Amino acid sequence: MYKIVEKKQLNKDVDFMAVEAPLVARNAEPGHFIILRVDKEGERIPLTIAGIRGNLVDIIYQKMGYSTQLLGKKEVGDTIEDFVGPLGQAAHIRDKKHVVGVAGGVGSAPMLPQLKAYKAQGTKVSLILGARNKEYLILKEEYAPYVDHIYLATDDGSEGTKGLVTDVLKPLLEQDDTIDHVVAIGPVIMMKFVTMMAKAHKRSIDVSLNPIMIDGTGMCGNCRVSIAGKTYFGCIDGPDFPGEDVDFDELMSRQSYYKDEEHVCYLKLKNETSAT
Ligand code: NAD
Ligand code: FES
Repeated sequence: MYKIVEKKQLNKDVDFMAVEAPLVARNAEPGHFIILRVDKEGERIPLTIAGIRGNLVDIIYQKMGYSTQLLGKKEVGDTIEDFVGPLGQAAHIRDKKHVVGVAGGVGSAPMLPQLKAYKAQGTKVSLILGARNKEYLILKEEYAPYVDHIYLATDDGSEGTKGLVTDVLKPLLEQDDTIDHVVAIGPVIMMKFVTMMAKAHKRSIDVSLNPIMIDGTGMCGNCRVSIAGKTYFGCIDGPDFPGEDVDFDELMSRQSYYKDEEHVCYLKLKNETSAT
């Protein structure tokens, strides 16, 4: 059992939790993820690690589905049944001069350890944080010590530039020759368009893919992604990959396989909650 030591609501849909998991904490590197089960009957939830502090592993999750809603009902002092990790491959922290991180919504959580690592090796770091509105622009203060410039964008213009992250990225790539690498984490559609833009402006790019995962150990094959015509498993080969040749359209279509089942479970929990 794994104890929840801290919990904070970042906005109405997104929570932060610090979980006591010494073995995971000791071995985790930027890009690694964990799989947790809230209780014995729970489904497995993969989450990229947002930070390590001593024995604590920070996670940030969006309460979108049945299991993340259940996780959101846990409080400080409660325990989580399973918390397995670190899983996957550590992100490549490349030898670059100036990296731009492009983080969309909750994608800002797994971006944080990567940009910290770039800053620690002496790379100049810029960050574009994008969200639907200012309430969803999370982790601004946490990023501040590790980034040289932070640019904000909201879909509705409630904070920063009104528009998408790509509206901010385009002029940066056009005007700043020092930028030699982009890291994008967020919705697949965002990573697709950021990758197209990076390629058009001749910059290398890494993305963090979030295919549906079941076992997280390379056994079930659910997390297949196609890159340059070859099949990779998100859980053991990723989740971070060079973005240039990722088949984002296939990934988007695979992500929607269980949409109907997920919606039924979500409604079930909503009904149970309103009945109590
Ligand atoms: P969201 O849908 O609110 O979008 C966040 C931002 O992404 C938008 O504000 C916009 O700036 C940008 N964006 C969206 N569509 C775009 C487009 N077509 N072109 C350019 N930019 C676009 O984000 P959310 O609801 O917080 O969802 C975040 C997503 O990130 C989820 O799908 C989640 O699965 C994914 N995610 C991935 C990882 C990972 O490790 N790969 C980790 C966490 C979250
Ligand atoms: Fe099953 Fe990757 S999650 S093979």
